[in-house]
Amino acid sequence: MDAERAGMVDGVIRERRTTKVLADAPLPVVDARGTVEELVATAGWAPFHRVASRMHTESGALTSIVPWRFHLLDAPACRALRQVLLERGDRSKIPRMLAAATAMVQATWLPNPPRGPVTGLFEATEENMEHLAAAGAAVQNLLLAATARGVPNYWSSGGVLREPEAFGWMGIPAGQILLGAVFLFPADTGDAEVNPGSHRDRRGAPSDWSRWVELDFTR
Ligand SMILES: Cc1cc2nc3c(=O)[nH]c(=O)nc-3n(C[C@H](O)[C@H](O)[C@H](O)COP(=O)(O)O)c2cc1C
Repeated sequence: MDAERAGMVDGVIRERRTTKVLADAPLPVVDARGTVEELVATAGWAPFHRVASRMHTESGALTSIVPWRFHLLDAPACRALRQVLLERGDRSKIPRMLAAATAMVQATWLPNPPRGPVTGLFEATEENMEHLAAAGAAVQNLLLAATARGVPNYWSSGGVLREPEAFGWMGIPAGQILLGAVFLFPADTGDAEVNPGSHRDRRGAPSDWSRWVELDFTR
């Protein structure tokens, strides 16, 4: 076993933490496109089991079989989106994060077309569960790649960024579902407010969520 390599990987996994940066005035725009493309390329090595439906791979510009899509907004796009949201009276934290972000990644997953009437966001099939799980692995990879490069990050549910109108602005096909709006922030956050994830220290010990199995074939 290469202990040094394991230590590095474990270190990045443990170092990853939710960092929410909230700025009232826009932070200076920096060109982070190169770094973001590096993070995205690494994130794409996530495992995936089932190929995305042809409904997704045969329409639009992104034709990969992977069950996720990453839509990348650079800092100028984040600031422009902030401005429109503010003009619409958005008082949520999203505009304040868009004021601070060096980039934002709209990470979506690709549900299969439903085979009948659906209540809720998507049809509850094993295939969809696996698509969603694979997309989640890709997002976690993105966070880890960012952490390894000292890029503060935050996986948000997205709030208003889930809305059809926001998808329209960003050219995201309506059949995709937002899994997370991933904010990437500068290392120097100036006077901005910086908040941790609310559940960071509440996960318990591994023994609170894992166990060795004792087989009992009489049960
Ligand atoms: C799918 C997903 C969605 C999340 N959405 C939000 C969110 O909308 N708002 C928020 O404050 N944190 C959100 N988080 C971040 C969690 O609050 C955070 O991961 C948790 O508090 C643990 O902290 P840590 O990431 O620092 O370990 C989300 C995390 C995941 C995995």
